Amino acid sequence: MEDIVWHDHTVTRQQREERLGQRGRVIWFTGLSGCGKSTIANELDRQLQQLGRATMLLDGDNIRHGLCAPPERLVEEHGEVFANRFGLGFAEVDREENIRRIGSVASLLASAGLVTLTAFVSPYRRDRDRVRQIVESAGQAGDFVEIFVDTPLEICESRDPKGLYKKARAGEIKHFTGISDPYERPLSPELVIAGGDDRTPAEQATEVREILGF
Ligand code: ADX
Repeated sequence: MEDIVWHDHTVTRQQREERLGQRGRVIWFTGLSGCGKSTIANELDRQLQQLGRATMLLDGDNIRHGLCAPPERLVEEHGEVFANRFGLGFAEVDREENIRRIGSVASLLASAGLVTLTAFVSPYRRDRDRVRQIVESAGQAGDFVEIFVDTPLEICESRDPKGLYKKARAGEIKHFTGISDPYERPLSPELVIAGGDDRTPAEQATEVREILGF
């Protein structure tokens, strides 16, 4: 450990932020699968781009194709030992590593001055709190904004866009959040969005944007 020493960059975060004319932050959406977090984050991303902000979006389903791929996706290229060691599924420890990797990447993007939007189930409070800690210690308090998309399970399940709830109920998917795995609601998120009412994603994203002062 002591052989790995932090090296300060020549170009500072402040310089990067000044160049972009904005502060880097992480806007962290959390909630059940199908709660709408991805849709709202995408819409917020679109609105912020339109306002000329420099943004980036990290999304569960896409990140699990690359940075946090499952073992099955890695085995052909890297072999079984590697795939089993670094591939991620949905057990508690896999989600812990998933969120740790994403948290580190999100923190780096925020340090580059980007408004970084993330949409992950991130069901464990401790994992989310650790990301807050990483992001704020790389920057300042307030850099991590936790947004809980609070959509009742019944509504998420009735939407079931990928048919995963159906499979989880049938016992074909293990560790499914809300069915056979827990979701720990945030205790003091910066914002709670009630999902499943008749508002459009654009209206929800606008609410977030206005509260964040963008
Ligand atoms: S997290 O819990 O580790 O944060 P993440 O957001 O990356 O999860 O991935 C969740 C997405 O993977 C869901 O939107 C869903 O499409 C899919 N998925 C597949 N299996 C599961 C599962 N067991 N639990 C939750 N989501 C799952």
